[in-house]
Amino acid sequence: MELAENIIWHDASVSKIERRQKNKHHSFVLWFTGLSGSGKSTVANAVATELYNRNTANYVLDGDNIRHGLNNDLGFSEEDRKENIRRIGEVAKLFVDSGTIVLTAFISPFKEDRNTVRHLLEKEEFIEVYVDCSLKECENRDPKGLYKKARNGEIKQFTGIDSPYEQPVNPEITINTETSNLQECVTSILEHLEKKNWI
Ligand code: ADX
Repeated sequence: MELAENIIWHDASVSKIERRQKNKHHSFVLWFTGLSGSGKSTVANAVATELYNRNTANYVLDGDNIRHGLNNDLGFSEEDRKENIRRIGEVAKLFVDSGTIVLTAFISPFKEDRNTVRHLLEKEEFIEVYVDCSLKECENRDPKGLYKKARNGEIKQFTGIDSPYEQPVNPEITINTETSNLQECVTSILEHLEKKNWI
């Protein structure tokens, strides 16, 4: 499916390095992955607020929101989830190129798809953040009532119920939203970025 045969890349007049220098921080992706209800969006948005207060250029891409627009033609089959993540990976790469810190909150259940995004970006541009929370706890929280529907058979291919979630093997950061509160999760992510001198 190589459709770009007669399309020639045009180099940008302002480089990623120049944009980073102007912004005075590194640009990279914080890729949050975890079950529905684990807290990906909550933590990503809380980190984004902190980063905003520190005068960084940042933006959150959130699964539920992106599926209303860019990806509103996609469902939850393996193939559609793969395409969902592929597109977000490409969008995230554009944000990084623009000098922006991008935080993505997608279940992204498959290792292979997450690794594809990792390799789409350069080294030191992709931080996988595993939002660890047991299925039992996510199901207890059930903020959108979707686990209940999945258990009743009203929703098919629901992650954790009748569709798999593959845990990250070597994520750069793991946070546990069952044992840590929101502020602790945010702090541990910011400390990781500070240690790297990225912000
Ligand atoms: S992903 O698997 O393709 O990465 P994504 O993060 O975009 O998923 O969307 C997940 C959100 O869609 C969930 O938080 C939930 O609100 C909603 N959703 C609706 N149907 C499903 C389903 N079958 N499996 C998982 N999430 C679903």
